[in-house]
Amino acid sequence: MDKFIIKGGVPLKGTVAVRPAKNALLPCMAASLLTTEQVRFTSSARHMDIISMLSVLEHLGADVEGKPGGRLSVRAANGHGDLEAPYDLVRRMRASVLVLGPMLARYQRARVSLPGGCAIGARPIDLHLRALATLGADIRVEHGYVETTAKKLKGAEVVFDKTTVGGTENILMAAVLAEGETVVRNAAREPEIVDLAGMLTGMGAHIEGAGTDTIRVEGVRELHGVTHTCIPDRIVAGTLLIAGAITGGDVTCTDVEPEHLEALLLKLRSMGAKVDAGESKVRVAAPRKLVSTDIVTQPFPGFPTDLQAQFMALLSQAKGTGTVKETIFENRFMHVPELVRMGADIRIEGNLAVISGPRPLSGAPVMASDLRASACLVLAGLCAGGVTEIRRIYHLDRGYESLEKSLRALGGRVRRVKE
Ligand code: UD1
Repeated sequence: MDKFIIKGGVPLKGTVAVRPAKNALLPCMAASLLTTEQVRFTSSARHMDIISMLSVLEHLGADVEGKPGGRLSVRAANGHGDLEAPYDLVRRMRASVLVLGPMLARYQRARVSLPGGCAIGARPIDLHLRALATLGADIRVEHGYVETTAKKLKGAEVVFDKTTVGGTENILMAAVLAEGETVVRNAAREPEIVDLAGMLTGMGAHIEGAGTDTIRVEGVRELHGVTHTCIPDRIVAGTLLIAGAITGGDVTCTDVEPEHLEALLLKLRSMGAKVDAGESKVRVAAPRKLVSTDIVTQPFPGFPTDLQAQFMALLSQAKGTGTVKETIFENRFMHVPELVRMGADIRIEGNLAVISGPRPLSGAPVMASDLRASACLVLAGLCAGGVTEIRRIYHLDRGYESLEKSLRALGGRVRRVKE
C-alpha cells in the first residue's frame, strides 16, 4: 500500500493541464456496450476506477484496446454468455452499476451485483431500478444481485423523486434503444450527463434537453460506433485550484471548461482570491488573507459535493467563521476528525460543519477514508507546518491520476512511498 509524505509550506505556482473526467468516462465507457461497432475515446485517465470499468467491460465480452491514460477503444461485438457483472468487480467500483441500463437495452437481460454502501453513505440504487422498471424491465433482487430482463423496453415518463446522476445516466442508456419516447423528469443536469448525451447522439441516438431537468429520448433501433472526447475533470481542476489558494499560491488550470467550475469560482472570489477565467483556462491567485464563507452542496449547477472536503480544508485557513452544509451524502464528514487532529477548529452539527479560522495546521500522520476526503488531507498537508503522512492513498488513486506529479510540477513537496 502506498502513502504520501508531504512537507508543507510551499506556495504552489504554475500551470497544469487537466485530463478527461473520471465521472464522464465511466458512463461513456458503459455506453459502448450499446453497439456492435467500435467506440473510440481520444484520451482517458489512468485512474483505478477507469481500470476497473475496463475489467467490467472485458468481463462482459468486449474487446478493449489501448491503455488507461491514453486513447482507448471498446468493441462489444458479442454479448458474453452469462451477462453478469460479478461482486468481485462491482465492489471495487460502485459505478459498475452503470452497465445495467446499456446491458438491458442491448441484450434484454443483465445480472449485476448490488454495490453495497460505501464510506460516504448507504448509496442505494433504488431510483435506478424503479426507473428501469418504468420502461418495462422485470427486476428481481436476489442473493446480492440485481437480475433484470425485458423482452423489449418501452419508452415512458420517468420521474425521479430525487436528482440522481447515475440514475439519469442509466435511464438514458436504456431509453436510447427503447421503443418510442421516454421523458425523464427531475433529471440530473451535471455536465457529465450532457457529455454522455453528446456521445449517444454521436452514435445515432435522439436526445433533447440534456443539461436541463427534462430530457426527451426517442428510441432508435440501433446505434453505431463513435469517436468521443470526454469533458475535462472539473473536480481535479477544482482540487488543484484550491491547492493554489490554500498555500498562498497562484495556479492556472488549462484544458478546462470554466463554466463547469462556476460555483467554486464564485466562492473563491468571495473569499478574496483573484480569479481569471478565460476560454478553456482558469487562474486562481490567493489573496494575502482568505476571508471565510458558507457553502451548501447541491446538484449541478450548485456547489459540488465532490469538492466539499477540499473546500473545508481551505475554510480552515480563512479568517472568520464559515459553514459547510452537506445535502447530498449523509456521511461525508470523515475528513473532519483528521483535519481537527492537524489543528483545524471544526464543529459538526448534523449535516452542518462550522469552521473557525484561520488556525495554523501542523503535519501529522493521517488516514484517508474515501476519495475526496483523501484530497482534502493532501491539501491540508500542503499548507501545514512540518511533515504530513497520509496512509491509504489507494482511495485517492481511484479518481486522481498521479496527483503527486501535478502537485510537484507546481512546486509542492509530495512523495509517494511504499509502506
Ligand atoms: C455521482 C458521482 C459522484 C458524485 C455524485 C453526486 C459518478 C461515477 N459519481 O455519484 O462522484 O459525488 O454523483 O454529485 O459520476 N440515491 C438514492 N437512490 C438511488 C440513487 C441515488 O437514494 O437509486 C441518492 C444517493 O444516495 C445520494 C443522492 O441520491 O444521496 C445523489 O446520488 P447520485 O447523484 O446518484 O450519485 P452517484 O451517481 O452515485
